[in-house]
Amino acid sequence: MAFTIAIDGPAAAGKGTIGRALAAHFGFAHLDTGLLYRATGRRMLGGLDPIEAAHSLRPEDLEADDLRTPDVSQAASRVAAIPEVRQALLDFQRAFARRAGGAVLDGRDIGTVICPEAEVKLFVTASDAERARRRHIELTGKGHEVTLDEVAQDLRDRDARDSARATAPLKPAEDAVQLDTSSMTIEEATERAIAIVTAAQG
Ligand code: CDP
Repeated sequence: MAFTIAIDGPAAAGKGTIGRALAAHFGFAHLDTGLLYRATGRRMLGGLDPIEAAHSLRPEDLEADDLRTPDVSQAASRVAAIPEVRQALLDFQRAFARRAGGAVLDGRDIGTVICPEAEVKLFVTASDAERARRRHIELTGKGHEVTLDEVAQDLRDRDARDSARATAPLKPAEDAVQLDTSSMTIEEATERAIAIVTAAQG
């Protein structure tokens, strides 16, 4: 039986962490849809046409270890504004969302475009300062040399571009539950999300 949890929200709000935790808890498959745009953006930086890059994505493209750098993040957000790129990635995401056994997808347009029929929709947010702090710790922990200011600027630029674009802009679905994780630990945010999903399961 299909059961979809759609998680959307601005950059570095904790969507991926919550998504992975929900998938593990409920035994669902998880798709970080940002990786599709990051891998497409990275291939564009390598010289490929972005639409061609999206059409010919391979599983190994999603495993490159530099997909989270600010350069690739910016490229992801630029290719994500191209309607043909989004179209190329649509069917894969829709099929994943409705696969048997349950699915968690996180991104920007999951509850609005990819799976408006999702059984649970979460819109995860956190303050700008907290998001920058968390992403900076994550990146430096992986050995990337970036300053807190650079990370904050990357998040600001992407949120502005992602919210302003004409196709599938970042915005909460009307029936999304908002989860502000600014003052929550990962454990608290995850517990809260599990409670919301459990309530929806009836
Ligand atoms: O992890 P973070 O929240 O920083 O970003 P991400 O989810 O990996 O997404 C990277 C970029 O891909 C975003 O800034 C968006 O421009 C784009 N994206 C999108 O347009 N739609 C999605 N469903 C997922 C990501």
